[in-house]
Amino acid sequence: MPAWLANEPERFSTLLVAWQAQGGRHDLPWQNTRNPYRVWLSEIMLQQTQVTTVLGYYERFLNKFPTVTDLAAAQSDDVLALWSGLGYYSRARNLHRCAQQVVSLHDSEFPKTAEMLQTLPGIGPSTAAAIASFCYAERVAILDGNVKRVLTRLLAFDGDLAQSKQEKQLLNLANRVLPLTELDQTMPRYTQGVMDLGATLCTLRKPQCGACPVQILCQGFAQQQPERFPIKTRKLKRSSQQLFVLLAQQPDGSVWLERRADSGIWGGLYSLPVFETEAQLMTALPTELQSDVKLLDEFKHVLTHKDLYLKPFKTAWHTGLAATLKIDSEISGWYRPDEWPQLGLPTPMRKLLSGETQHA
Ligand code: ADE
Repeated sequence: MPAWLANEPERFSTLLVAWQAQGGRHDLPWQNTRNPYRVWLSEIMLQQTQVTTVLGYYERFLNKFPTVTDLAAAQSDDVLALWSGLGYYSRARNLHRCAQQVVSLHDSEFPKTAEMLQTLPGIGPSTAAAIASFCYAERVAILDGNVKRVLTRLLAFDGDLAQSKQEKQLLNLANRVLPLTELDQTMPRYTQGVMDLGATLCTLRKPQCGACPVQILCQGFAQQQPERFPIKTRKLKRSSQQLFVLLAQQPDGSVWLERRADSGIWGGLYSLPVFETEAQLMTALPTELQSDVKLLDEFKHVLTHKDLYLKPFKTAWHTGLAATLKIDSEISGWYRPDEWPQLGLPTPMRKLLSGETQHA
């Protein structure tokens, strides 16, 4: 461990806080506020999504649900519709449940410590620390992916972060380098600064050490191998899957959609019916239509752990046909071209329906 860590552990935060004030990001819409509802919403949206994507969603969401009480009272379909396209829909379901618990268990006020915040759905230790340090200046460390990279490089921490013991060790160190004075000002700036450093200079590839405010403290730089860190052995196993998608359309353009079960992929969203085999898709159709389906171009959709190859089958629906699709689903039905765009749809389904895929 570097000498400064034992003797002057605040050197890192002092440099970082000064840099954030000058070189960090200042005008993101969730900054310059200590409103925990706004900060919480931004942190959840930013968990797996880039800042540029989040900006539009964040504004639309706050327009529709300005307070936690409004969100708690919303229909889950409306929440999912506003989330549509951001992915990782369990975040939206937890968001809604969290708002309801803030209202029912905490008198509509977010709890004021990281420890209490963690008892709410969808708020893990790092998100709780972000909210508590931004809104209440609590002296507590965040440890998301960007921050792990910054700190492992700074300290040349070579423990394997796939092991929870090593991750805990890093969290201890993260707490040791936090600011020690004027916390009301320094804690929010420090938290933002360490995120900003990871996002802008201390990047995964080709870190810009020449511009780094903490280069003189950085062990990874001193060893001339910052990119060696962080060390994590476990690799994500990627898989792929083919899915068969039924695009049934009436002459007026209405399409058949079903609301998916709450758990699993695209839980709670509206979707074109999806099948694991072509035979299952065919069986769901009325016999008259089975000879009248057209295969559109297959397209690929990338999820975190999986590549999906979607094969859309289009069938024209004749109004004369009384049969309904033989599909089990609680809420399924026809949605007109002026209706379906408002629903919470998975991104690949929205693309398919709006003709953005290469199908004829
Ligand atoms: N990612 C997570 N939280 C963030 C924040 N407050 N600002 C920018 N990016 C972030």
